[in-house]
Amino acid sequence: MKINKYEDISQIDRESKKDYIDRHSAFVHCEKSAKKEEKFKVKVKVGDEYQHPDVPDHFISWVQLWNGEKMLAQANFTEGALGGVSGNQEIDFYIIPQKNLKLTAQAFCTKHGLWQSNEVIVEVN
Ligand SMILES: [Fe+2]
Repeated sequence: MKINKYEDISQIDRESKKDYIDRHSAFVHCEKSAKKEEKFKVKVKVGDEYQHPDVPDHFISWVQLWNGEKMLAQANFTEGALGGVSGNQEIDFYIIPQKNLKLTAQAFCTKHGLWQSNEVIVEVN
C-alpha cells in the first residue's frame, strides 16, 4: 500500500493541496521526554488546520501508533463517529515506555488511503 508522508504545508502554495495534505495527516502530540515504566500519554490527531469529512463513503477508518517498526496500538472508527460532520479524529493512547521512543502515527482514509505523520523522538529515562 502506498504511504503518503506528511509535507510541511507552509511550503505549499495551492490552498486545495494544503487542505488535502493537512486533513489526512496524523499528528503525534506528546511530551519530549518520559519516565521509564511510567504511563505516558500520546495524543494522535488527524488534521491540524483543516478538517476531514465523515460521510458513509468517505471517513477516517483507523489510526495507528507506531514505535519504530513496531505497531503499538490501533483505534478503529465507523462512519458517523464525528456525527457526520467534518472534524478531526483524536485519540489518546497510553503506553509504558522502556527506552527511547521513535513515534509515528498512521491514519487511513476510505477514499484517499494511508497517511503517515512525522517522527517524534521521546527520550526515556
Ligand atoms: Fe479523505
